[in-house]
Amino acid sequence: MSETVDLVISCGTVVSPDASYPASVAIKNGLIHAIGAAEAMPPSREILDATGLHVLPGAIDVHVHFRDPGYPQKEDFASGTAAAAFGGVTTVFDMPNTLPTVGTPEALADKHLIAAAKAYVDYGLYAVLGEDSIQHVGALIDGGIIGFKLYMGNTFGRIPSPSTGAMLEAFEVVAPTGKRISLHAETNSVMERREQRLRAAGRTEAIAHLDARPAVVAIEAVARAAILSEWTGARIHVLHISSAAELRPLAEAKARGVDITGETCPHYLLLSEKDYQKFGGVIRVNPPVREAANQLPLWTALLDGTIDIIATDHAPHAPDEKTRADIWTVDCGFPGVETQMPLMLTEINRGRATIHDYVRWSAE
Ligand code: DOR
Ligand code: ZN
Repeated sequence: MSETVDLVISCGTVVSPDASYPASVAIKNGLIHAIGAAEAMPPSREILDATGLHVLPGAIDVHVHFRDPGYPQKEDFASGTAAAAFGGVTTVFDMPNTLPTVGTPEALADKHLIAAAKAYVDYGLYAVLGEDSIQHVGALIDGGIIGFKLYMGNTFGRIPSPSTGAMLEAFEVVAPTGKRISLHAETNSVMERREQRLRAAGRTEAIAHLDARPAVVAIEAVARAAILSEWTGARIHVLHISSAAELRPLAEAKARGVDITGETCPHYLLLSEKDYQKFGGVIRVNPPVREAANQLPLWTALLDGTIDIIATDHAPHAPDEKTRADIWTVDCGFPGVETQMPLMLTEINRGRATIHDYVRWSAE
C-alpha cells in the first residue's frame, strides 16, 4: 500500500512545455509526488476533481515590487503574495527598491524576516547592485538572494544609476559568483535631458512620459550591458523589454554566446500609445508603453526564443499617487501579478501562441 499524499488533482489535462496529456497529479509536502493515471494515484487526504480543466504549473513571476518594508499604503508582502496566489503565480522574485533599499546584508536580513512571516507563495529576493553595494556582493550572496538588480536608469525609489565604470567593476565582481544581474536597461542621462526639455516646454500630459523615454534609451542600454557582460562573463537578464528595436542587440548578443536572457510584460504586448488618453497617469510606467508597432515583434520574439520569459513588473501605488494631473508627479508602475495569467491565457485562446508556449514563458 503506497503512502498517503496531501492532495491529488485528478483527471485534468496536464500541460507541460512540450505536451498536454490526461493525468492526475499527487502532491506531498508541497512537492509533486507523482503524475500519472487516476487509478495509479496513491491514497490522498484531499482530492480536487479537475475533469474538463487544464492543469498548468504555477507561474514564476521573476519581477515584482511588493513595497515591503517602506510603502504600506501601496502593498505589503501579504497582499502581494495573496494576489500572486489568486493569479496562478506560485513563485515571485521581489525587487530591492523598498525602504531601506536592499543593498546591505542588514536590509536583506530584515526583508527575509518580513517575507518569511507574510508570504503565501514561494519567493526569492533581489539585492541592488550599485556603486555603494559592490563592496557587499559576497555578504549579500551569503545572506540569500535570487540575483542582483542594476538600475541603468532612474525609476521609482530613485536608486542612483552607476556609471559605466562602476557597472564594469560590478560585473567583474559578480561574474565569478555565477549570480545573474537583472537590468533596468534605460540610459539615465538621455532620459534626464529629455524630461528637462519637455518640462521646460510646459508639457504635463501623460504622453509626454513616452516622449521623455524613446526606445533609443533601451537600445543603447541593452547593447552596452551586453558588451560588459561579454567582456566579464557576468550573466545578465534584460527586464521589461518594451520595444522592437531592443531585440536586435539582444539577439546579436545571444548569437555571440553572451549569457543573456530577456523578459517582456503583458502591458507591452497589449497596450500602446493609443491608451494614454484613456488611462491618463495610470499608464505611467518605466519603460513606457510604446507605439503599437512594437507589439507584433515582441510576440514574434517570444515565439522564436529571443525573449525567454513573461514577467509583470508588478508595481502598485495608491490611487492618489496615480491620478495627479501633472504626469511628472505621478508614481510609475501598476499592478500585474494577479492579471498576468488570465490576460495571457486569453491571448492563447485567441490563437496568439500555444498553451505550451505559455507554460515555457511563465514557468519553465
Ligand atoms: O514603472 C516602474 N515602476 N518601473 C520600474 O522599473 C519600477 C517600478 C516601481 O517600483 O514602481
Ligand atoms: Zn520593475
